[in-house]
Amino acid sequence: MISTTHILYGQTLGYTADPFLTDLEHAFDWHRHGAVVIQNGIITDVGPADRVTPPEGATVHEYGERLVMAGFIDAHLHYPQTAMIASWGKRLIDWLNTYTFPEEAKFADPDYADEIAKRYFDLALAHGTTCSVSYATIHPASVEAFFKEAQRRGVRALTGKTCMDRNAPGDLRDTAQSAYDESKALLEKWHGVDRLGYVITPRFSPTSTEEQLEALGALWAEHPDCLMQTHLSEQLEEIEWVRSLFPEAQDYLDTYETHGLLGERGLYGHAIHLEAREKDRLAEHGAALIHCPTSNTFIGSGLFDMVGLKAEGQHVGLATDTGGGSSFSMLRTMAAAYEISQLRGIALHPAQLLWLATCGSAQSLHLGKRVGNLREGYEADLIVLDLASTPAISQRHNMANDIWEAVFPTIMMGDDRAIHDVWIGGAKVL
Ligand code: GUN
Ligand code: ZN
Repeated sequence: MISTTHILYGQTLGYTADPFLTDLEHAFDWHRHGAVVIQNGIITDVGPADRVTPPEGATVHEYGERLVMAGFIDAHLHYPQTAMIASWGKRLIDWLNTYTFPEEAKFADPDYADEIAKRYFDLALAHGTTCSVSYATIHPASVEAFFKEAQRRGVRALTGKTCMDRNAPGDLRDTAQSAYDESKALLEKWHGVDRLGYVITPRFSPTSTEEQLEALGALWAEHPDCLMQTHLSEQLEEIEWVRSLFPEAQDYLDTYETHGLLGERGLYGHAIHLEAREKDRLAEHGAALIHCPTSNTFIGSGLFDMVGLKAEGQHVGLATDTGGGSSFSMLRTMAAAYEISQLRGIALHPAQLLWLATCGSAQSLHLGKRVGNLREGYEADLIVLDLASTPAISQRHNMANDIWEAVFPTIMMGDDRAIHDVWIGGAKVL
């Protein structure tokens, strides 16, 4: 019989508070010689190895110098863009028309959707991402493919049918009514099944008529426990376009708010060029802004104001935005977040970067009490990081004086080679 009780020995890192809002020394819980107990998929104890008692019959996993922590949570991505990641030379609107829409049209074939869903989860897990929040395509089968594959692997995963009824090719357009009907049917079938969650998904205002936004706002009102995801203020040309399509709207966010698409469980991807009113309304609702730094540099969108937005109390998650983002790696994503913040004059601390990729994303998804942390009672979605995974990282790591100096070279230079082991729901899967 496969053991469901495990004890992992290694360095351990969890969080006790948000390091953007709390003094660093009070925000984390690190043990040089730590232990984590997992029973039936749940973390039942974490602490210094000499304090934690191994349960009877536990399988022992000795990780030595390696760092055991929560798996990464990618709070915004497009799994259907897996195959066209890192496509050259376009800004947002041209990039969508040239690369994205032709690729998404291929998902009319359910076999292709199955193939890419498999490929996506292989890549995500290899990069230490244990929870993914994805856009699907317009095709209900693309949602089915993603959920089936996540379910098969026991992964906590969320997605929704991407709704578009204008400014997209004919074969990628639904209607207000079919968007509502198909989203509702998928939601009723999948939301809350195993570790899966349905996310109501209007792509962004330019590709939805007011009727469609209204219909999806109504669906959200009928299912307020669901998340809703969309894009907001990513590029200046996009914002101009929104202004011309919605001449009555006060600003970009207003195009959502007017139709019932602003709320606590709303996830707003990018949110770079926000106006004061938009920031106020997002904060009043407690909505989440999802920072996609490799995408923002790759497509040339702009510099997200991490420190300013966190200081005014916004909820912020971190994401790859695969395939507008240029990497499946949340390590590379943290590095890009660091670089963007540097361009705004502020160096994010490694504790803040790792917090964003785990707790920050989990809190944005309203899953902050279940995943994204190494603490008692949390689901055992864990990664084991090798902090010396390449010669370049290893020689830099050798100079470290504390855990943050030890982990920062892996954040800046690491990739899937740094992911030594991956645990999903208390089982080692990689
Ligand atoms: N805005 C609307 N759709 C998309 C998309 O697929 N990727 C990005 N980066 N921005 C978008
Ligand atoms: Zn996106």
